[in-house]
Amino acid sequence: MSLRQKIDSTRLPAHIAIIMDGNGRWAIRHGLDRIFGHQKGVESVRAVIEASAELGIKYLSLYAFSTENWGRPDDEVSALMGLMVSSLNNETETLIKNNIRLTSIGDLARLTPDVRERLNETMRLTGACSGLTLIVALSYSSRWEITEAVRKIAAETAEGKLNAALIDEAEIEKHLATRGIPDPDLMIRTSGELRISNFLLWQLAYSELYFTEKLWPDFGKEDLYDAVIDYQKRERRFGKTNVRSPEK
Ligand code: FPP
Repeated sequence: MSLRQKIDSTRLPAHIAIIMDGNGRWAIRHGLDRIFGHQKGVESVRAVIEASAELGIKYLSLYAFSTENWGRPDDEVSALMGLMVSSLNNETETLIKNNIRLTSIGDLARLTPDVRERLNETMRLTGACSGLTLIVALSYSSRWEITEAVRKIAAETAEGKLNAALIDEAEIEKHLATRGIPDPDLMIRTSGELRISNFLLWQLAYSELYFTEKLWPDFGKEDLYDAVIDYQKRERRFGKTNVRSPEK
């Protein structure tokens, strides 16, 4: 029985979020410059998108570039941005063909105009696709997102559009970059690091966490299947006794 056959298609995670870590270490272990690790990482991105679409996963979030990543050396930042643009240039047609909608979360105002324009164009071209929704976190950090939400809520409250006493979790969710997207059921992090690193802090409240030693460029379809199989063995209780889904 193949790994794929071990997956119960009636109990798939609706949303998988991935912290793609270990590109630099992969490159160093192969005696290469870090940037080659990122290049190889793009192949893993392709593999997990394909595997997710084939399985029938509804949402896939990928942490491609964090707010903190702006602090990396200029040549690494521009190489990462270059990879983003070339991937979008090469893959937009494939996304459309496979009915995949691209969307993004993050402080896009910080991106250079060429990256922003290419991203906006792919989001526009795939806007009507109704299969997998691919969420690329770019110039994203959860604290940035929550700070933005608080700022908007404060402004709407000051304008009298919101009543402070009535602000609840649903109202906060409406102001997050992920509005309309269900919380991740499963969060995967590669490379053996056991951290959340400012990724979807609000949204991961009840997610199942899966950590693997594999470095991102070595992560492929079978590794995604492994994670889904592990997820399906767990009992999700959402802080209750043994119910299957949260009340809300
Ligand atoms: C982490 O490895 C990876 C990143 C910061 C970037 C991930 C980006 C890609 C895989 C390419 C572009 C993405 C898309 C969606 C086309 P690291 O550099 O932190 O590795 P290290 O911890 O070993 O140094």
